[in-house]
Amino acid sequence: MEFSIKSGKPEKQRNDCVIVGVYESGKLSHSAQAIDDASEGFIGKVLKRGDMDGKLASSLILHGVAGIHADRVLLVGLGKHDELTEKGFRQAVIASVKALAKTGANDVASFLAESEVLNNDGKKQDAIWKISHMVEAVNDASYRFDVMKGKKDKSEKEVIKGITKLEVHVAESDDNQQAKIALKQGLALSSGVSFAKDLGNLPPNICTPTYLAERALAMVKTHGLTVEVLEREELKKLGMGSFLGVAQGSVQPPKLIVLKHFHGKKDQKPVVLVGKGITFDTGGISLKPGADMDEMKYDMCGAASVLGTFKAIAEMDLPLNVIGVIPACENMPDADAIRPGDVLTSMSGQTIEVLNTDAEGRLILCDALTYAEKFEPSAVIDIATLTGACVIALGHHVSAVFSNQDCLAKEILSAGEDALDRAWHMPMWEEYQSQLDSNFADIANIGGRAGGSITAACFLSRFAQKYHWAHLDIAGTAWKSGKEKGSTGRPVPLLTQFLKHRAEKA
Ligand code: BES
Ligand code: MN
Ligand code: ZN
Repeated sequence: MEFSIKSGKPEKQRNDCVIVGVYESGKLSHSAQAIDDASEGFIGKVLKRGDMDGKLASSLILHGVAGIHADRVLLVGLGKHDELTEKGFRQAVIASVKALAKTGANDVASFLAESEVLNNDGKKQDAIWKISHMVEAVNDASYRFDVMKGKKDKSEKEVIKGITKLEVHVAESDDNQQAKIALKQGLALSSGVSFAKDLGNLPPNICTPTYLAERALAMVKTHGLTVEVLEREELKKLGMGSFLGVAQGSVQPPKLIVLKHFHGKKDQKPVVLVGKGITFDTGGISLKPGADMDEMKYDMCGAASVLGTFKAIAEMDLPLNVIGVIPACENMPDADAIRPGDVLTSMSGQTIEVLNTDAEGRLILCDALTYAEKFEPSAVIDIATLTGACVIALGHHVSAVFSNQDCLAKEILSAGEDALDRAWHMPMWEEYQSQLDSNFADIANIGGRAGGSITAACFLSRFAQKYHWAHLDIAGTAWKSGKEKGSTGRPVPLLTQFLKHRAEKA
């Protein structure tokens, strides 16, 4: 989709459609009022007839409105006047995309960014916020994953459905330069989110550890990153016995993918993002039940979020030093696979009793966390679809944050609020640690059913003692199940916002 920033009168736009807001009270937005004036009160009449009530995210397409230049007018409900929230604004924007998805309106002008949007503190959001969120919401709603569908023979005359060009209208008084920057930022973030979604949605026979490494390497040319891929032999030399233990049950070779975006000051300590890259999780010898097992292709969404975030910050030219570390492998049952009862020696030297081979995420992450020490990081954040227990605790709306430093957790929560990609701070107190006691090794890889997402975090904390660290469990937020099954691209918005804040502070 093509986006641009414009300003001008709604009644004078020669697009396939102009999009304007109306409120529940029957109150018209500025642009709806302008069209009403140009059309001798047509919009007012339509509302009086009761075809459109202005409820948030409702919509009505009007054709052939007299006195204006566009072919159509799309009325979008903004709910109660003076009560449009940030979420509500995005819902209205998404409604406008959906309403036009099945029409022949391709080239459209949206005036929704003129609406007054209130944040959680009741303060008005500026044009920059509205522009970048409009771009993201539009791209999010129009995302399709159909590369794996067979080619249908399309007739040449087939009309393209849905928006292909969107003019984001801003007031004459708005700073055009700033608006363009906001557009660029919104596009960069969308591009990172789409990338993460694509990687997540790809089938596990294609999206293998090798494939992830190739996609990362391809970003060297397109996005100016440095990428290094460590193979099994090098991982052996590093002593990553835990990571290699998980990988040994698969014919797919493991990869440790290391990305560098060094656009900050030379001596600035980097932020390290570590992403769980299990390209398929069968559970291993502790085999998972069959129902919904296909969804375990999404067990690399932590890795995908790291790659997506790198794409976004590269396209934003973010002045910050950031390193990505992705341990990628497959968790398969095999004659060679690790067994419950096996003891593995991690790169840190700590030995691990594997009581359940399905708790594999922590086994690959712990070595990646030890590896991250060498970068002398200012902070390390790992992102993982780590536990089913996290979904039981928090559901599908927010990600869980665990940290060994409260102010880092707060920083992450606030980035999530700003990006509308929220997270919640979970406890990780000392009391939980003893659930990981083992009779045969330094630590067990599971801590029982009680507080399963917390003991998983406790396990990781043992390998993250040398730096400020946070862990994001995204098991509930990285993808959707059911009819809308698909990757969400979360938490790329949160991570990107976190890094933007860090760059501003630097
Ligand atoms: N990838 C799964 C976690 C998961 C399961 C995420 C279902 C989303 C939906 C992880 O590797 C796993 O299997 N965890 C186990 C841990 C248990 C054996 C302690 C779990 O959550 O059941
Ligand atoms: Mn598992
Ligand atoms: Zn897993």
